[in-house]
Amino acid sequence: MKILVVGSGGREHAVIRKLRENPEVTEIFALPGNGGIAADATCVNIGAKDIPAIAAFAKDNGIDYAVVTPDDPLVLGCVDALEAEGVRCFGPRANAAIIEGSKAFSKDLMKKYGIPTASYESFSDMDKALAYIETCPVPVVIKADGLALGKGVIIAATRDEARTAVIEMMQDKKFGKSGDTVVIEEFLEGPEVSVLSFTDGTTVVPMVSSMDHKRALDGDKGLNTGGMGTVAPNPCYTASVARECMDRIFLPTIRAMKAEGREFRGCLYFGLMITKDGPKVIEYNCRFGDPETQVVLPLLESDLLTVMQATTDGRLSETEVKFSDKNACCVILASKGYPVKYESGFELKLPETGDSEEIFVAGAKRDGDRLLSAGGRVLGVTAVADTLPGAIEKAYALTEKVGFENGFFRRDIGQRALAAGGKI
Ligand code: AMP
Ligand code: GLY
Repeated sequence: MKILVVGSGGREHAVIRKLRENPEVTEIFALPGNGGIAADATCVNIGAKDIPAIAAFAKDNGIDYAVVTPDDPLVLGCVDALEAEGVRCFGPRANAAIIEGSKAFSKDLMKKYGIPTASYESFSDMDKALAYIETCPVPVVIKADGLALGKGVIIAATRDEARTAVIEMMQDKKFGKSGDTVVIEEFLEGPEVSVLSFTDGTTVVPMVSSMDHKRALDGDKGLNTGGMGTVAPNPCYTASVARECMDRIFLPTIRAMKAEGREFRGCLYFGLMITKDGPKVIEYNCRFGDPETQVVLPLLESDLLTVMQATTDGRLSETEVKFSDKNACCVILASKGYPVKYESGFELKLPETGDSEEIFVAGAKRDGDRLLSAGGRVLGVTAVADTLPGAIEKAYALTEKVGFENGFFRRDIGQRALAAGGKI
């Protein structure tokens, strides 16, 4: 089987490594991939947002199955375009990807179907948004409606900060058209859990839970990033929380999307906060998380391609999706200065990895035999072990063996999970 994977990050590298385990897979093309992914797939220089070129490539190269993982192409209708060429796909169509593409849409969906989330108002008129700020409780959370590379969320501690955020989004267009509408929502507190799920539109199968570390620096300090590391499972996601999530969030969401004529097939990501009033949805993503995927897929014991195809064909209820009961930790090595300003082009020296160790490449390019950094997040150093402390120790030991002079990483990935009672 010839497979096409759209995207170029560490998440795509993890997906490709897992897909390769299926003996029927003869070739994987990554569009565009990166210098590290090139060791595991044929990289083709077509950008992830160039939908017509992706569809034409799939048609011309007899692609049997396409996996679309990043948010932009999904929201832009990459799956629709591939399907129009007769290519079967993993990932939602544009009319379902809107669950991530528009926060106003997802908040309205949750309100209509009684799915627990922070209370909110959305505004397309800046004066009305500013008037609302004068009366709402603070802290308050201001979100740009559209995609904003994970940066369109401002937690405002004061009304002044809230006003500034609204003006930057709606008047100064800090996030372009994504800020034409803003959602202003209640500030929630509690531990965060990421749950990725497979769904075929009717059945939803949660994957092992995980915990992201979004801030750049130790102790959850510094700016928000795409994610500096992850562990799985997340100890805050207890069996009773999982049951409540299934009954009150996962199934209701899948049913709501179907009822709206927006059946969701692919990976639906639930960003949850476990509040004192129970679990609530912070955000939906229409795709695998990054770097959650780098800890979740190494724990998947079932064949990924089989499970993906079951979501496409509506056969998930009859397909086994099994995860090991081990623990995984991924430490992101980023370029110094990320997420603001950083330099690329530094040589990366990757050590040999042992069983249950993997290095996923997020941002790198090839220069002859050399691998050079190219991007903010560069590597995802991942290890699996029986216990959480074991996985953390192994991931950090592997990190020390990587040669990347311009790199930095957080030293405390997994510590919050340990404090919350990680399995020892
Ligand atoms: P999002 O891009 O929607 O995931 O938001 C980024 C981060 O902002 C989340 O991971 C949370 O840590 C935080 N956040 C978002 N919404 C809220 C909220 N209503 N209350 C508290 N924190 C929030
Ligand atoms: N790690 C969070 C995300 O992928 O959006």
